[in-house]
Amino acid sequence: MVEPILKWAGGKRQLLSEITGRFPVEFERYHEPFVGGGAVYFHIEPDGGSINDLNDRLVTLYETIRDRDPDDLIAENRSHEHSEEYYYDARDDFNELREVDEKTAAERLREASLFIYLNRTCFNGLYRENNSGEFNVPVGRYANPDWVQADRVRALHDALQGTSIHNEDFEYVREAASAGDLVYFDPPYEPVSTTADFTDYHAEGFDRDDQRRLRDLAVDLDEMGVSVVLSNSPPVAELYEGVEQFTVHVVEATRAINSDADNRGEVAEVLITNVAEGTQRRKTLSEYQ
Ligand SMILES: C[S@@+](CC[C@H](N)C(=O)[O-])C[C@H]1O[C@@H](n2cnc3c(N)ncnc32)[C@H](O)[C@@H]1O
Repeated sequence: MVEPILKWAGGKRQLLSEITGRFPVEFERYHEPFVGGGAVYFHIEPDGGSINDLNDRLVTLYETIRDRDPDDLIAENRSHEHSEEYYYDARDDFNELREVDEKTAAERLREASLFIYLNRTCFNGLYRENNSGEFNVPVGRYANPDWVQADRVRALHDALQGTSIHNEDFEYVREAASAGDLVYFDPPYEPVSTTADFTDYHAEGFDRDDQRRLRDLAVDLDEMGVSVVLSNSPPVAELYEGVEQFTVHVVEATRAINSDADNRGEVAEVLITNVAEGTQRRKTLSEYQ
């Protein structure tokens, strides 16, 4: 079990046992098409499979952690400073690096390290881009933020060996998965209210048509013999009504990241799955009984 390196909106740390308890006891490979901060992936540390996200900078970070010597990234992480002025310079550097098409290995390392630094020192650990794709979150107030995270970088490096990393739309998994595999989907949520709009992790939104596309993909995967577990917000459950292979469970979750303090609290989430109850981990493993 490895702790995620990033704070990420929609992070699933509170729901780990609810989610992984619905995974089948046995599966071949594991795929996570909306990996974000990767709380579930890193919790289960699968042996093989794939992760994916539309956020290209996030993908560069995971590729760098997997492919580089962890000591190189840790050394780069140690080069950062804790000051407001440094933060805004680092943010400018990070945004300028995005414009570089063919990045050198050193530039990729720098971009990955800046991502970790900004995530640990920005306001509320949010990731937000403006319409031009620039990361635009202001500096946060932390007494002693840890952006080096040497132990986590090493642990994540080991965990990611053998995992393929993609930067595409979630439908890639139709090709990547095969019978016996497990796919966990954690898409951007439909906002429950207008103040809970977290669909802008990435400059592009995720709308009802995307949710329908996801449902159709889940049905296709089921037909291929793939186990599917999906988390979402309650309004999406209606899309699965009448899809008899899938069952919908409501669970309570505490949202970890919410810029509106009054809006922090218990929020119902739904878990949708085609994994039969009797074969779910929580029904068969003593830790869930
Ligand atoms: C709810 S977050 C995942 C949170 C993650 N489970 C965690 O624990 O941190 C959803 C992710 O989907 C990504 N995303 C948005 N649209 C996408 C698409 N069409 N295909 C793949 N990823 C997408 C976002 O960049 C975001 O990182």
